[in-house]
Amino acid sequence: MDKKLFVANWKSHKTKEEAIKFFEYLRDNISHIDLSNKEIIIAVPFTLLAKAKYLVDEFKLPVKLSSQNVSSFPEGAYTGEINAKQVREFADYTIVGHSERKRYFHESESDVENKIKEAKEVGLKVIQCIQDENSQLHKDSDILAFEPPNSISTFGVGEPDDPKDIEKVFSKLSEELSGRTILYGGSVDENNVKTYADISTCGGFLIGGASLDPMSFISLLSQW
Ligand code: PGA
Repeated sequence: MDKKLFVANWKSHKTKEEAIKFFEYLRDNISHIDLSNKEIIIAVPFTLLAKAKYLVDEFKLPVKLSSQNVSSFPEGAYTGEINAKQVREFADYTIVGHSERKRYFHESESDVENKIKEAKEVGLKVIQCIQDENSQLHKDSDILAFEPPNSISTFGVGEPDDPKDIEKVFSKLSEELSGRTILYGGSVDENNVKTYADISTCGGFLIGGASLDPMSFISLLSQW
């Protein structure tokens, strides 16, 4: 059985103290979860990568870390940017192409392509978000995450997508995926995650709002 990926996306949330509380809760409660069928990745803000890595190692948590973005430029004179090499010190993954980056920060497909190139050069695995079946799937991304913008809890209607729609999109993309894992993201929580259980092509979930409170996140994970 392939393990499902559960990727928490904290977005622009949490201070260091809040992150410590989250990881302490995980340390104390992770034994309630069946880990034989799932992998957990937590995408934290850049400011928390070092602390999160320290805590994951210290508490021996079965969790991988990700950034939520990465610079499309290499190391150099790019004020305010965090490059892939800097992320790689602390994380195994990076998310690229999230619709919030596209909507609020005007990221283009060529930005996304450059980010993927930078990430791959240092051995970061790339989780590329796509918004619909016409989105460009970059050949070097490792994992795809289908997130219809209207289903993201803080965008549009904030209603999770219908499992039938998701299945349709996944099957349209199946050739282009060439064997890569595809996740669903958009308003997934502890109450609805089971409704996606029948989508055999779904490799897991990208979880925003419901990953912030460690109790809800553990409860969501324990549904699977
Ligand atoms: P949401 O966010 O779970 O809060 O809808 C998902 C995402 O945007 O990655």
